[in-house]
Amino acid sequence: MKILAFSSSSAAAPPPLSDVRNPFPPFQNNRHRLYFNPSEFLPDPTRPTDDFIDEVRILRGRTTGLPDDYFVVLVGDMIIEEALPTYQSTINACDAIRDETGASPSPWAAWLRSWTAEEYRHGDVLRSYLYLSGRVDMSMIEKTIHNLIGAGMDLGWNNNPYLMYVYASFQERATFVSHGNTARLAKEGGDPILASICGTIAADEKRHEHAYVRIVEKLLEVDPNETMLAIGLRGNLGFLDWTVEAGEARGAKRRWETRTRIRVLSTG
Ligand SMILES: [Fe+2]
Ligand SMILES: [Fe+2]
Repeated sequence: MKILAFSSSSAAAPPPLSDVRNPFPPFQNNRHRLYFNPSEFLPDPTRPTDDFIDEVRILRGRTTGLPDDYFVVLVGDMIIEEALPTYQSTINACDAIRDETGASPSPWAAWLRSWTAEEYRHGDVLRSYLYLSGRVDMSMIEKTIHNLIGAGMDLGWNNNPYLMYVYASFQERATFVSHGNTARLAKEGGDPILASICGTIAADEKRHEHAYVRIVEKLLEVDPNETMLAIGLRGNLGFLDWTVEAGEARGAKRRWETRTRIRVLSTG
């Protein structure tokens, strides 16, 4: 993929966080706990064995009204979330915003770690739920995730933080739409708990989108040329699903066909 030439300032540091008025309210306000715990949605393993097994049986019963196609899509969503180590290292490859020590106190580094911690829960809860449902081939899923993370990815940001922020804005929007639609379909299919899981994840993605969009808005103020170039290039950057396709081999085509058929990754 060819990236248009940026000026020599393309890898320049974005404006300091103090210039971007409170872009990360979810992570700066500890008065309200905004993250969820995956265990809140799952059978409680500390209960007596029979009770726990009953909860699992009820969970499996709830999923019987959902078609296989639904699970093909949900597996796709879960795999995308599970490749989180790749995204953290990809974002950290931008020199201007990187976490140089792994525990840097810089606002950008703190954001990246908090974002990663929150995203981690998305794959975690979906993976656990899918495992307990018995509706999917966990062995194939685990191989796919292993291959996907091992392959890594290069989205063509070319050490340009403007591209990263613009890309992240659209990607968060895409995951919000996708998780929101799987929530709706789970509710229609008779699984309100799975609907709640997907809806909760979608709400996280919406907050992430909000934060990245505010950053891009600020970049438009301070450096409109570079920011507009980055926005113009967004269509050339591809989305994570296409990267997943490389890792999934045969499975991906069916997933895309399924996505189209049941309209998960669209607002229609
Ligand atoms: Fe996510
Ligand atoms: Fe997100």
